[in-house]
Amino acid sequence: MIEVHDLVKRYRYRGKVKTAVLDLSFSLNDGRSLGVLGPNGAGKSTTMRILATLMKPDSGGQRRRVDIAMGLVNNPSAAFLDEPSAGLDPDAREDLCNLLLSVRKQFGTSIVITTHYIEEAERVADNIMVMDKGSIVSEGSPQQLSNQYAQDTITLAIKNARKDDLSSIFSAMSAIDESLLLNEDDSICNVQIKALHSPKVLPDILREMNRIGAEITSIDVRQGSLNDAFLRLTGNEATP
Ligand SMILES: Nc1ncnc2c1ncn2[C@@H]1O[C@H](COP(=O)(O)OP(=O)(O)OP(=O)(O)O)[C@@H](O)[C@H]1O
Ligand SMILES: [Mg+2]
Repeated sequence: MIEVHDLVKRYRYRGKVKTAVLDLSFSLNDGRSLGVLGPNGAGKSTTMRILATLMKPDSGGQRRRVDIAMGLVNNPSAAFLDEPSAGLDPDAREDLCNLLLSVRKQFGTSIVITTHYIEEAERVADNIMVMDKGSIVSEGSPQQLSNQYAQDTITLAIKNARKDDLSSIFSAMSAIDESLLLNEDDSICNVQIKALHSPKVLPDILREMNRIGAEITSIDVRQGSLNDAFLRLTGNEATP
């Protein structure tokens, strides 16, 4: 079990004080893996260095009932990996992912990993912690975070409806964040809709189209990804 309580780290640099981590608390059960995501300067490396006991926190701190293990040798009970895949090509990144998964399976190693590759965190980690400006912005399984924060995109082709009517119907639906009428020829409107929860919105759309006598000729739903959730939470594109 790894427990972190109210971790604080400030750097003094050229006479200025920079708060890198502020009141960070989290826990990780044995054998679980945590992916730490965040934009540049979020405090990920600082947190990792403290967890790996390379550096002292200012206050609060961590209580670790695990053997400190550096690297993935000697059946470590926990491994702290700060951007292990930075600079690796896609093949090597794939190998690394597989290695982490197999080490974890074989030895029950707890893994804390930071990465700018969202899909890597998604594969390796049971839980994701998104940090920004030294604090946790959100935490949960990849599925939970994308359900909660990532917009789904629904694309519809609709027959027998006036563009203006569609505009006013979609903009009046509070569960729809954005709707865009892509193009319109004589008979078909293509509409792109962004909404947090497509399963909740679709029945309403179907009912409304039915009400105005419009016919939906195709529906495409793209579920929001963890990357979309990350962008919404931090306002940043994940840049390796
Ligand atoms: N040795 C240091 N001296 C002064 N400030 C530092 C030092 N190390 C980090 N910082 C500052 O602390 C903050 C957190 O840095 P940290 O390296 O922990 O972020 P990070 O999330 O790992 O970022 P990146 O994604 O770029 O690796 C940043 O504002 C950074 O400029
Ligand atoms: Mg870093």
